[in-house]
Amino acid sequence: MKQILFTILLLSSLVSFGQDLSFNYDESKVPEYTLPDLLTLNSGQIVTTARQWMKYRRPEILEFYTKEVFGDVPARPEGLHFKQVGEDEQVFGGLGIRRRVRICLDKEEQHSFDVLIHFPKKHKKSCPVLVNLNFTDNNDMTFEDAPFDYKHYPYEMILREGFAIATATRNSIEPDVKPVDSKGDGVRAWYEKIYPGKYIWSAISAWAWGLSRMADYIETDKDLDASKMVLVGHSRLGKTALWTGANDKRFAVVVSNSSGCGGAAITRRQFGETYRIMRVNFPHWIVPNNYKYDDADFPIDQNGLASLTAPRPLYIASSTNDLWCDPKGEWLCAKTVQPVYDLFGKKGLESTDVLKGGQRDDQGTVGYKMRIGDHDLLPEDWKVYIEFAKRNLNIK
Ligand code: GCU
Repeated sequence: MKQILFTILLLSSLVSFGQDLSFNYDESKVPEYTLPDLLTLNSGQIVTTARQWMKYRRPEILEFYTKEVFGDVPARPEGLHFKQVGEDEQVFGGLGIRRRVRICLDKEEQHSFDVLIHFPKKHKKSCPVLVNLNFTDNNDMTFEDAPFDYKHYPYEMILREGFAIATATRNSIEPDVKPVDSKGDGVRAWYEKIYPGKYIWSAISAWAWGLSRMADYIETDKDLDASKMVLVGHSRLGKTALWTGANDKRFAVVVSNSSGCGGAAITRRQFGETYRIMRVNFPHWIVPNNYKYDDADFPIDQNGLASLTAPRPLYIASSTNDLWCDPKGEWLCAKTVQPVYDLFGKKGLESTDVLKGGQRDDQGTVGYKMRIGDHDLLPEDWKVYIEFAKRNLNIK
């Protein structure tokens, strides 16, 4: 036994040898910093109008995140097509319809991933739709009798609110595993075979790509309203939600729940997880170009990533116990994205300091809330996001 313990200790010290995985949870140790100005172009000129933002500054920030953080997000492949692979007209006591759709990448159907859709049986025209990636398996999410992920997906409530929900499993698009290169069996490997060396992209870009293909499908389904797609992502998929919303303006609302480092948390605060730590534990989430940066001196901070959603409604959320995600840094991101929303005459946060547990500040186009509790995406969170989407998209 002792020998086994010794071997484990030896191995883990070898693995972490030379890698600084230390982190800070002490607010008084947050370094002094100045956030890079979102409205200053690389040339030094200042953006003063929404048009200039869209034409000049937004592309600069998008390019930075493409080249230096998450990598390319390829366009829709030519042979992409959809197949309905199942339909159940009576789910949740007759409240909803369940549809299963296969997104096939190529004519030969060598590569595909499945989307699980629930929508209310009674709906007027097409339904607004929550678009999401899940952490487990679509099949875990179809049964009414309490499957693993069920507590996270309050289907009855969503359907009663008149919303549809489309979800796919992240691992079915791109496995969430090292290595950083494209040698896995996900969509990156598929592209690599067809276009060798053309794309450099992370798993987060691959998931963003998958969400855009789900949007491609939604555009073809007459039961779903593609002009009201509400993207909801949690944690690593909350980072992905911001990146997807940046690349694909078809998503009308972006919700980033507890996204932390690489998501909404301000990098310069170096509170909780940092890019330095993420590169060691999850190197496949970012491209190698990123390795040259220090957390203290990224040329653009994470409010830059969030600003790419503007002028569309954006919701950022934290929870009190989730220090790893740096709740204060996430609030700051929502707050400091405002100069960009101001260009469009859109209101954001009213609060002047990070919220206390149980508080919300979400009556504007940018919303933020702090749930009491742990790192999670719970039914009560979905309820708030639906309410926010309804108000912002004028859904009755
Ligand atoms: C880890 C990781 C986070 C990530 C989270 C998750 O905690 O460090 O960056 O957000 O996993 O996705 O659950």
